[in-house]
Amino acid sequence: MVAVSRCRVCDAPIDAFMSFGRMPIANGFLTANEIPNEYFFELAPAFCGACGMFQIMEQPEPEKMFHEQYAFFSSTSRHMQAHFEGFANAVLGRVLAGRADPFVVELGSNDGIMLRHFQRRGIRHLGIEPSINVADVARGHGINTISEFFGRKLADDIVAEHGHADAILAANVMCHIPDLPGVAAGVQRLLKPDGVFIFEDPYLGDMIAKTSYDQIYDEHVFIFSVNSVARAFAMHGLELIDVMPQTTHGGSMRYMLAPKGSRAVSAAVGDALAKERAQGLDQGGTYLRFKQNCEASRGLLMRTLEKLPGKGKRVVGYGATSKSTTVTNYCGITPDHVEFISDTTPIKQGKLSPGAHIPVRPYTEFTRQYPDYALLFAWNHATEIREKESAFIAAGGQWIVYVPEVKIVS
Ligand code: TYD
Ligand code: ZN
Repeated sequence: MVAVSRCRVCDAPIDAFMSFGRMPIANGFLTANEIPNEYFFELAPAFCGACGMFQIMEQPEPEKMFHEQYAFFSSTSRHMQAHFEGFANAVLGRVLAGRADPFVVELGSNDGIMLRHFQRRGIRHLGIEPSINVADVARGHGINTISEFFGRKLADDIVAEHGHADAILAANVMCHIPDLPGVAAGVQRLLKPDGVFIFEDPYLGDMIAKTSYDQIYDEHVFIFSVNSVARAFAMHGLELIDVMPQTTHGGSMRYMLAPKGSRAVSAAVGDALAKERAQGLDQGGTYLRFKQNCEASRGLLMRTLEKLPGKGKRVVGYGATSKSTTVTNYCGITPDHVEFISDTTPIKQGKLSPGAHIPVRPYTEFTRQYPDYALLFAWNHATEIREKESAFIAAGGQWIVYVPEVKIVS
């Protein structure tokens, strides 16, 4: 475990403004005989008043989270596949068009959900994915992938072997890497003078507005804002030139950066900064209110689960998301509240959820005998799921949701 008392970006002293308590590894699905050795750490977020970076105080070592049994496969959602096709097309159109023999690098390329669009077009590409099992899936599809952690040293090696990159991409990855300065230095080294670095991650503004505290878990060492990203990368000669809000992961932001002075800065950057100031994202008091909102959400969710209308009703969790680990452990949801969690990812099925030890079962168990209530842990996919589950509603089923507020809906 790595615990800090100083900001990972600017080294100012920081302190947690709340604690979600003892937390296991969010993707640490386990078997019953692994329970005695389950790893826990304290999940406590802090806001750096000096540089604006929202971060967690303690993070387990990367090898505990990203390894040969990593349970997160990007390609499990149809909407996410369409999203990454759109991301790739935006890069092809806005950045790579007209370039001779471009080279694209993706940090945390997972199962190749985005790089496949470059590979199919014969574009030189390289995925960097430390979790070997998901990287193997990408390699199986012919996507060039190396299993390493990215930093300045690896950037040197890539430049020596492939040359500099026209575009460096990352989705839901930058917020995982505690050594942000090291990655920024690596990006600066790897990028061509006219190259761009584009990444997206869950957005702090959405998390605060929706009290979606489940974005906070071990992998998400940072929750970025436009302000904190602009400042963190400016220290490494990279300028924030555009920002584009995304609906994925319950509200994300896509950031486009380039070597300072190489490109015009879009008005969207200034607009987003003004919006963040109006929302109070730079004020410590905002985070104290967020803490109160988390406590209120927890209280209401538990009262809802404990007083469901009708006796002996069945509740099943929908989607064994990483995020749900924070919800189940912080709120105290147990197998007494939730019979099992339905999930389509084979590696999670037959295991227990981290910390709360709720069984994870295949999706067919959900459709075989619909429960009375489904607790929507995969709330970020609500549109896709509610389209897909009309038969559950027709059978009298109802959804329990908790973002942006706790309620029962059909
Ligand atoms: P994801 O949205 O990536 O959340 P997190 O980043 O918090 O892990 O994970 C979605 C999980 O939900 C994944 O395990 C697959 C599962 N899932 C289903 O079981 N059914 C579905 O229809 C969808 C969209 C996801
Ligand atoms: Zn700081």
